[in-house]
Amino acid sequence: VDESMLEPRAPIVTIMGHVDHGKTSLLDYLRKSNITAGEAGGITQHIGAYEVEYEGKKITFLDTPGHEAFTAMRARGAQVTDIVILVVAADDAVMPQTIEAIDHVKAAGVHMVIAINKIDKPGADPERIKQQLAERDILVEDWGGTYQCAEISAKTGQGVSDLLEKLLLEAEMLDLKANPHKRAVGVVIESRLDKGKGPIATVLVQDGTLKVGDHFVAGHHYGRVRALLNEKNERMKTAGPSQPAVVLGFEGIPQAGDRFVVMKDEKAARELASKRQQLKREQEAKQVKM
Ligand code: GTP
Ligand code: NA
Ligand code: MG
Repeated sequence: VDESMLEPRAPIVTIMGHVDHGKTSLLDYLRKSNITAGEAGGITQHIGAYEVEYEGKKITFLDTPGHEAFTAMRARGAQVTDIVILVVAADDAVMPQTIEAIDHVKAAGVHMVIAINKIDKPGADPERIKQQLAERDILVEDWGGTYQCAEISAKTGQGVSDLLEKLLLEAEMLDLKANPHKRAVGVVIESRLDKGKGPIATVLVQDGTLKVGDHFVAGHHYGRVRALLNEKNERMKTAGPSQPAVVLGFEGIPQAGDRFVVMKDEKAARELASKRQQLKREQEAKQVKM
């Protein structure tokens, strides 16, 4: 690594926790929009990626679903992340997906900040949540531990700035850097077939800078960046480290979790993609025989 090329980058933060504990509501509040209202049954289906600016500092947030069917997505969320915000509802308890999220955090070795949510609710008991976390060896600071903890309401916004301060403090300790002066590498966060745009994917750039015209491989698919869009559907010229972007120009639909790599030219990208397709066909043929 050429140290002189490294520049500070925004922290990538994943919001995790049990079903309905308020992950998407927290992200909604941060974005001052309303994603939850538009979701089928209020359940998060995909990991969305969003950039939020707080006091001049950028933070990239990933939302994960709490539903038990989505373990793989949460595992992936924990892997691409610098810091996890563990959301626990103060009127509920430490629940199965809370524990699973803690396990992912430990396995991935990432930092964690606790957000005890729904403190506006009559039955809210943050101390009981801290007690239950302590029983899982998660000791918050005012219990003599190392985990920062904020008591918040994603509904009223109470405590959210305290949470962001704590998050930025955690990020500062990590001293996050990347090299924006090279070809981009990242990960596919979500993908779909758009009626007008064709196969599209949200890509989180982890290192380097992604540009329109770049030749890339994602999973076993080749592509060339036709356009980059932000979450408001506005065109971006480039996406640098820690920036999410909707990428147009895939030749097939990649899978969430696929590595995304920019290659030096079209030939190199097409060769790698076809090699991977060949490998995939061989594996499928083997499975049919078995
Ligand atoms: P999944 O994605 O399905 O796992 O849920 P989630 O964790 O994203 O929870 P979501 O944001 O969908 O919130 C679940 C419900 O709790 C919604 O009805 C929210 O309006 C409500 N809610 C979330 N945060 C708060 C809060 O701080 N206070 C109150 N009173 N209600 C909240
Ligand atoms: Na929900
Ligand atoms: Mg949600």
